[in-house]
Amino acid sequence: MTEAAAIMEQASPIPHVLIFPLPVQGHVSSMLKLAELLSLAGGEGGIRVTFLNSDYNHKRLIQFSDAESRFRKYPGFQFKTIDDGLPMDQLTKGEKVLDLMREMGLKTRPIFKDLLAQMDPPVTCVIGDGVLGFIRDVSVEVGIPIIRFRTVGVSCFWINFWLPEIIEAGELPVQGNGDMDRMITKVPGMESFLRCRDLPGYCRVSADDQVLARIVRTTRESSSSPPSPLILNTFDDFDGPILAQVRHLFPKTYAIGPLHEHLKSRLQGTTTTSSSSNSLWKEEASCLTWLDTQPPGSVLYVNFGSITVMRREQLVEFWEGLTSSKNRFLWVIRPGLVSHEEELDGDEIPEELVEGIEKENLKVLVGWAPQEAVLSHDAVGGFLTHSGWNSTLESIVAGVPMICWPFFADQQVNSRIVSEVLKLGLDMKDVCDRRVVERMVNELMVEKKEEFGRKAVEMARMAKESVKEGGSSYENLELLIEDIKLMSSQARELKGCKSSNNIS
Ligand code: UDX
Repeated sequence: MTEAAAIMEQASPIPHVLIFPLPVQGHVSSMLKLAELLSLAGGEGGIRVTFLNSDYNHKRLIQFSDAESRFRKYPGFQFKTIDDGLPMDQLTKGEKVLDLMREMGLKTRPIFKDLLAQMDPPVTCVIGDGVLGFIRDVSVEVGIPIIRFRTVGVSCFWINFWLPEIIEAGELPVQGNGDMDRMITKVPGMESFLRCRDLPGYCRVSADDQVLARIVRTTRESSSSPPSPLILNTFDDFDGPILAQVRHLFPKTYAIGPLHEHLKSRLQGTTTTSSSSNSLWKEEASCLTWLDTQPPGSVLYVNFGSITVMRREQLVEFWEGLTSSKNRFLWVIRPGLVSHEEELDGDEIPEELVEGIEKENLKVLVGWAPQEAVLSHDAVGGFLTHSGWNSTLESIVAGVPMICWPFFADQQVNSRIVSEVLKLGLDMKDVCDRRVVERMVNELMVEKKEEFGRKAVEMARMAKESVKEGGSSYENLELLIEDIKLMSSQARELKGCKSSNNIS
């Protein structure tokens, strides 16, 4: 830092926010959107942002996205990397995400503490991934204000918060398959629709499960006095009733989503193209070219996100159901989607799903898609999704109804909200059968196309309104920016007091 900059820094340090996601696609993607929003909307003097990613994920982000060139225009922005404690050779998928969270709590924690203490200029606020409890612990230890970002829907966060009461009341553990449709009564605001099978995937265990205990602990810590401020990737018109409940216990809750649309809206009028990618895989634009040849609203887009794994037999059931439906579809199959620990015999995987195929009425692409562009393409009329939160929001903003086949974590409750509460689609939870796939595809894309289409268009309108000036998410981001600046000036005053004490 130059002497002049140091003097300026001393006089009025620009707020310096460190953003630290769980290093997996869905978390990196939404928290990088937040990083860009803070860099862009920081107002006069701006907000300096450091984005902390794992070594391996950072290499892939730079290799497969335009993030490096995009962020170069924000002078106060920098990428930093940290060892996540895992081998550097693959992206985390399936239930291994839970191992990653545990490993980071052990191995990354001390490295993070050292890094935070050495940051120059000093960090004045940490925005940590809410699933990594150690980020809060370390920030409190070193005396830096912490804001927790929950990349999942607020309903999942709210269920996590009430897990002790659910367990205390004996509503967990679930007593076998016959018990899965029993109603859960201990989550305020969700009594009318929440069943055992809609609880987050990690609740399908014994009550003394260590993963469950850790999730409860990190959620409850955030409510310690004073409760950590919360950033949520949702909007008032979508999650209003639950948000009202959350705000009773977490008064500083900033609902600023849908983040991808919020960023796109704020970038309008700047020199940046809004098509920003945060992908950790190479995006195949060929699917957009194929979509250009399809009639409006005729294509079902199929994608199960960055973490889902499925057995070979399940892949075949989806293939048979999709082809029997006679509906046009674009299926993007992520490398590693099929787990290889499954039984040796059973159905062979059709060559079309290994090599990919393109016909007049269907395309199978083995790779990764520019998903936001696919969902907003005129030819796409439906989305068979795993109900990851980012995918759910992207489908809502694009006005595309969904068929939900959740894999784990928050996806179970997201699929219930989409189907039962918002009536924006169908819930295929806990079923993988070619006849059900065929039936639901025809119901979404033919029989109830108009009904779902109308609701989807209305929700898309509300989502876009929320991020425009005067909308709830726009105003909440302004409040967040003001609070981040306040934390910085309080840190300066505190430092000033300490230095004057040192002198006296
Ligand atoms: C994970 C969890 O699984 C999810 O439940 C949680 O809400 C967020 O963290 P993930 O499984 O990756 O997320 O799903 P999702 O939240 O939908 O995020 C995937 C992101 O990758 C989306 O932004 C989507 O647009 C993008 N994507 C996915 C692509 O760009 N191309 C693809 O081919 C698939």
